[in-house]
Amino acid sequence: MKMNDYIKLINDKLDEYIQIESPQTIFKSMKYTVTLPGKRLRPIMCLETCKMLGGEIEDAIPTACAIEMLHAQTLIHDDLPCMDNDDYRRGKLTNHKVFGEAIAVLAGDALLTYAPQIITKYSDNLSPSVKIRVLNEYFNYAGARGVIAGQVVDIESEKNDNINDKEKTLDYLHLHKTSDLFQLAMRSGAIIANAEDEKISEVTEFARNFGLAFQIADDILDEISTFEQMGKTMGKDKDENKLTYVSLYGLEDAKCKLSCILAQCRDTMKKQNFNSVIFNEIIVQLYKRVGI
Ligand code: IPE
Ligand code: IPE
Ligand code: MG
Ligand code: MG
Ligand code: MG
Repeated sequence: MKMNDYIKLINDKLDEYIQIESPQTIFKSMKYTVTLPGKRLRPIMCLETCKMLGGEIEDAIPTACAIEMLHAQTLIHDDLPCMDNDDYRRGKLTNHKVFGEAIAVLAGDALLTYAPQIITKYSDNLSPSVKIRVLNEYFNYAGARGVIAGQVVDIESEKNDNINDKEKTLDYLHLHKTSDLFQLAMRSGAIIANAEDEKISEVTEFARNFGLAFQIADDILDEISTFEQMGKTMGKDKDENKLTYVSLYGLEDAKCKLSCILAQCRDTMKKQNFNSVIFNEIIVQLYKRVGI
């Protein structure tokens, strides 16, 4: 499948999986951010991992869409005034700007529990044990040991200029706030394909590095890109005194480190025989977006 075919499939399913029930406000708010045009990288990577490891794409669709819903949840909460205080997301007003803060908080909470229900409701093709393993991955990476851990340290780092080991703290927060959802995506794809433990470890390693690269790129783009390209307000990291690769190492070193990690991703792909045009394309797109 080509990238655009994946995007169309995911968009159609996301639209189908969220019907507007009562009370309408909450379902409309959930659907608003989920269906805005994101890159859909996490669900694509879930489906592609499943396919690459010999599974059926069909079997992974509910899980892939659930991960995109979880991602949307993290974005809705990340944009709140008490977090990053952003007015735009995916080129449109943020959830709280349209629905108000209270509904945006509730929409995030609702998505967090709605998403795993999509997995249980629509994954008839998966055995009970595979379903439980996938759900376990979801709860692990979505929770206080996963993406939330990264967001906590991200927020704490804003106010604290006296962090002891900034390099270690920065990698910790990037690995959790961003790599964790890529790990969730690829690991679940692998589990659905019934991959062996060794393969699951290999895709986990790739996702960890790719996620780190992706967040470093996001840090760089916050400095050098535009609203038109990114669909969100740029320059916010500096304004909010965020701990990022650019604030800690400077723009040029951040670019060097990004190049290095992307090269590692490519090495892993070669060494582990990841036979995927899509992963290659995703890496090339990242190089291009950052201009390195
Ligand atoms: C934004 O993720 C949050 C980060 C981890 C930097 P994406 O850049 O994948 O956002 P969408 O889904 O395309 O909007
Ligand atoms: C986002 O990091 C990570 C999550 C949403 C979990 P950022 O705060 O840098 O993402 P953007 O720049 O707002 O998309
Ligand atoms: Mg943030
Ligand atoms: Mg943010
Ligand atoms: Mg950012």
